[in-house]
Amino acid sequence: MKAVGQPLPHESARGHVTGDALYTDDLLLRFPGILHAWPVMAPHAHAEVLSLDAAPALSAPGVVTTLTAADIPEGGEGDTGPNRHDEPLFPSEVLFHSQPVAWVLAETLDAARQGAERVRVTYRPLPAVLTIEDAIATGSFHSPPFHMQRGDVDVALSPHSLRGDLRIGGQEQFYLETQCAIAWLDETGGVALHSSTQHPSETQEIVSRVLGRPRHQIAVECLRMGGAFGGKETQANTWAAIAALGAAKTRRPVRVRLPRRLDMILTGKRHPFLAKFEAGFDGDGLLQSVKCSLYADAGWSLDLSAPIMWRAMFHSDNCYFVPAMDLTGYMAKTHKTSQTAFRGFGGPQGMVVIEDILDRIARTLDLAPEIVRRRNFYQEGQSTHYGQPVKDAGRITAIWDDLLDASDFAARRTAISDFNAANKHRKRGIAITPVKFGISFTATAFNQAGALVLIYRDGSVQVNHGGTEMGQGLNTKILQIAAQSLGLPLSAIRIMPTRTNKVPNTSATAASSGSDLNGAAVVDACRKLRNTLIPVAASLLDCDADAVCFDDGRVYVERTERSVQFAKVIEAAYQQRLPLFAHGYYRTPEIHYNPATGQGRPFYYFAYGSAVAEVELDGFTGDTQILRVDILEDVGDSLSPIVDLGQIEGGFLQGAGWLTLEELVWDKQGKLATNSASTYKLPSWSELPPAFHIRMMKRATEPGVVYGSKAVGEPPLMLAISVREAIREAIAAFGSGGIVEIDVPSTPERIFFAVEHARPKRLSIARAKVEAAQR
Ligand code: MTE
Ligand code: MOS
Repeated sequence: MKAVGQPLPHESARGHVTGDALYTDDLLLRFPGILHAWPVMAPHAHAEVLSLDAAPALSAPGVVTTLTAADIPEGGEGDTGPNRHDEPLFPSEVLFHSQPVAWVLAETLDAARQGAERVRVTYRPLPAVLTIEDAIATGSFHSPPFHMQRGDVDVALSPHSLRGDLRIGGQEQFYLETQCAIAWLDETGGVALHSSTQHPSETQEIVSRVLGRPRHQIAVECLRMGGAFGGKETQANTWAAIAALGAAKTRRPVRVRLPRRLDMILTGKRHPFLAKFEAGFDGDGLLQSVKCSLYADAGWSLDLSAPIMWRAMFHSDNCYFVPAMDLTGYMAKTHKTSQTAFRGFGGPQGMVVIEDILDRIARTLDLAPEIVRRRNFYQEGQSTHYGQPVKDAGRITAIWDDLLDASDFAARRTAISDFNAANKHRKRGIAITPVKFGISFTATAFNQAGALVLIYRDGSVQVNHGGTEMGQGLNTKILQIAAQSLGLPLSAIRIMPTRTNKVPNTSATAASSGSDLNGAAVVDACRKLRNTLIPVAASLLDCDADAVCFDDGRVYVERTERSVQFAKVIEAAYQQRLPLFAHGYYRTPEIHYNPATGQGRPFYYFAYGSAVAEVELDGFTGDTQILRVDILEDVGDSLSPIVDLGQIEGGFLQGAGWLTLEELVWDKQGKLATNSASTYKLPSWSELPPAFHIRMMKRATEPGVVYGSKAVGEPPLMLAISVREAIREAIAAFGSGGIVEIDVPSTPERIFFAVEHARPKRLSIARAKVEAAQR
């Protein structure tokens, strides 16, 4: 029996639909007398807090207490900044619109909100930096810029060159379950928390810092998350800290749950980027040099902006060999939410830029973009601009050619030309784009994981590991991995909630490496247990230790029917006084990276994939429909094919949302105007391509990774770049050649104006009107 590779439903799928699967806030009823928290929010993007009087809140019915700087205990630090300590819980200077300056705790959420309205705060407004351009003009950055270089870039030396700008929008994670934490004191006075966090160990660390208590006094549990997408990698900590502070002060349980609007206006998003680039190339479209400045709108605090910028720079090549490359990354400090991790972690922004450049090159030379892209692919033996050999470069071309063929690309291209010739106001476009995504945390120390596997005397097993479940199916995969390693049926194994008191010092479940790292740690623990059990089984079966194998809930003499029940072996081991639990540990080998030189091998391997998208575009409205999508993804040997399929579908659609629909708008006061599902357009069923063909590469075993699998959580998001490129192709069809410039997200509005720009002048619908209005 093989557990790994089985197409199983998500281990909580049934619970997700029946409501039996619990999320942090569902645990509320287990805490009688729980208090609810509401923040006092500053009405300025940037201001000095002149005075704060929280006392009036106490007169509101139901209010129990307030939290201000005075409530930080002796030895505690009122700051939740995960890297730099730059996120004061009770700031004296407001750094983004609606920033909490104090909190109110009450018997009900409504009472807390009404209490918060009574808190008297006076501010002195200060000038706010609200755009990347403002930040450049005023020199507002979090750190000196990062730099990465290979060779000397002088585009003037190339036969052809181009330069341009690209503006890339941010993205709201819009996890269905908003940020939530519940904290209470245990009977010893220790602080316990349920937290919807991707990183329980860091939540523990931050709570310990705020309260000034050692970490063994803090226990964090994460049952599961209703989505996270990077938004709970660091940004779950603040709410946990407030809940913990409240519990420590009142000795009552405290719940902090952000309603959707607060979640949107208070928490970080994908970083908006501005890219300014120049590229040199030859007459065949081969890249010779790229020079690019990337500016990220990082918001008010540093958060994860540094590793996100590194990842953007690591992915500015995507699948293409660029002989000379010169990248500079700037992290703009603006008075906005602190932008943070979001699926792809900077990779998508870096990749969009090089794909934008390649399409420009193709149109400059009047070549098909897919031909220019393919010509520039890495060849075996070549290295990236940061010095990492592109192992398996052949896979890029193999996937590409397979997909071109399977999607019937050439024939459809001809059909599209015919369609476009026959239709004046509707045009279709088709494009294929590749993805190469580096797997590993670029902060080398994060690439470690632990597990604790317990076998009970009846042969049933509990698995604890350091990863968190956010819907991505990590626990399903771990279940399969443990079942496979111990030769047990899935029903014999139970995955326990993630707790800091089971596995300490864990890394965030992020960088798509949750199953690589935690899966390998579980395999290690199971290997130790098997090693304990093998001699016991060998003596029960009267065979050589080498011949013992575990399968189907029994222990066999290899290639025979002679066997004994797993539980019998366990009981015998117990009687012999052998340990029936083991910890497992894994650290990714071979990786290293030196930020000072910008060189190294930051990634253990690359995940590859390609997508073909076909779109149809309405020239009157700029509205687009995705007609068909074909994907070929390299997941190695899939641990769990249905889960992986879900990751590919979901990632792709989330990427399409980012690139075509989702637009964050901050008003002139720095207030987020798109703060609900009614103003922030998300992809849904209506955006799902009616034809969506997804395949995973066959016989794609990745050596050195758990059961030959590859990470799948983030890479598919970037396959959606094919949609944007297909849109550009359709826009181009309205004109007669030339570069198509369009910012991200390529919304109907932007598409409409790009079409107007592409059209021959006499056919322009809006130009005459716009020009008349401008006159
Ligand atoms: N899938 C679901 N359903 N929900 C999520 O929150 N997060 C994504 C991805 N897929 C996410 C998801 C992100 S940002 C990452 S890094 C990975 O899952 C993390 O999980 P993994 O490392 O186990 O793949
Ligand atoms: Mo994912 S952005 O690495 O949490």
